[in-house]
Amino acid sequence: MKYKNLLVTVKQKIALVTINRPKKLNALNKQTLTELHWAFAALQDDDAVRVIVLTGSGEKAFVAGADISEFHTFDSQQGYDLAKEGQELVFDFLEQSKKPVIAAINGYALGGGLELAMSCHIRVASDHAKMGLPETTLGLIPGYGGTQRLPQLVGKGIAYEMILTAGMIDANRALEVGLVNHVTSSDQLLNLSFSIAEKVIKNSPNAISKAIAAVRAGFSQGVDGYKVEMEAFSSCFDSDDFITGTKAFLSKKTPKF
Ligand code: CAA
Repeated sequence: MKYKNLLVTVKQKIALVTINRPKKLNALNKQTLTELHWAFAALQDDDAVRVIVLTGSGEKAFVAGADISEFHTFDSQQGYDLAKEGQELVFDFLEQSKKPVIAAINGYALGGGLELAMSCHIRVASDHAKMGLPETTLGLIPGYGGTQRLPQLVGKGIAYEMILTAGMIDANRALEVGLVNHVTSSDQLLNLSFSIAEKVIKNSPNAISKAIAAVRAGFSQGVDGYKVEMEAFSSCFDSDDFITGTKAFLSKKTPKF
């Protein structure tokens, strides 16, 4: 598919999705959000893809937030629709992906940009990346899940501080508080992200998708994560991957999934 604001390449079972509006610091306008939905939907169904890496174009920004020029005249109903549509089509959709998504944070990840990175399953940051939720400086609060996912990742106290002060933290502080999994130099950012992807690819795709669903269940209101885990665990016994994995172990071989 042809995209206006995204670049999508696939190599050795890893898809690289690059948000490509560098002049606007990759800000998420409607077109980009729509294309992200299309791209992630297509990659879900693409058997040649097992892991997705998401990054921003240029060295300056991963994503500097939702596109302020598009919503500055909105009223409350339009604001609600903006949040709902974005959350459903992109942020929740991405978090529910059955294929792991790794955010390679190559610069500013602010507002909707940090919310996008937080919807991914794993985050790797370059050492010059800066992260924050500056929405209160605009008279807003985070609207793409930031008030929920940030406390889940870093705890309530640090989340409150980041949201209420609107301050940015650097990559090392993000690592210290658990907002990112790894920090590396910008020239190693994609290499490290791909090497994590390669480790994931060695394992059962069925089990990986079930693990994502079970972890997510534990953070979903009104859902018993332990029960979801039991059901997901039991369903693995009926899968071909279970036969492949256990057979390989018992014959002292490496499984090929
Ligand atoms: N929306 C629209 N345009 C944006 C943008 C955004 N979020 N962030 C940057 N841009 C644009 C700028 O307007 C500028 O465009 P022009 O050259 O046409 O003027 C271009 O990108 C480059 O940006 P700057 O000149 O501002 O670059 P800088 O190096 O001086 O500053 C920055 C970098 C600190 C990241 C600054 O751009 C900034 O503060 N951006 C906004 C960050 C922000 O507030 N994000 C939250 C958005 S609200 C949100 O995301 C709501 C939600 O949760 C749903």
